[in-house]
Amino acid sequence: MPLRISGLSATPVSGCRLSKDHLTLVVPVAVAAVVGTYLISRYYSRASCSKGKVNLEQSKDTAKVVHSFDMEDIGKKAVYCRCWRSKKFPYCDGAHTKHNEETGDNVGPLIIKRRDA
Ligand code: FES
Repeated sequence: MPLRISGLSATPVSGCRLSKDHLTLVVPVAVAAVVGTYLISRYYSRASCSKGKVNLEQSKDTAKVVHSFDMEDIGKKAVYCRCWRSKKFPYCDGAHTKHNEETGDNVGPLIIKRRDA
């Protein structure tokens, strides 16, 4: 007794010939496999990027980027970058706005000011 599944017959296929019925099953499965593989690889790629580097371009020739300022030299107010995208690093130049728009992040500067300023 031949087995039938959704119009497909279980009649043995001789050689490498594929019938139209087989192609209608194989092509969607192959497309789903390719799309699934792409989405999974993209997911894991993104997950590994989230553990990646914060500093993309500031002082890349040094082992550690450190800035030190004397309180007396700061004056009334200083605005320091915390997004690492400023062209005036370590000072904020507003680049965090574009970074936040592009990434959905919410970073902003560190503002230090005298109480009476
Ligand atoms: S530019 Fe980086 S916090 Fe403003």
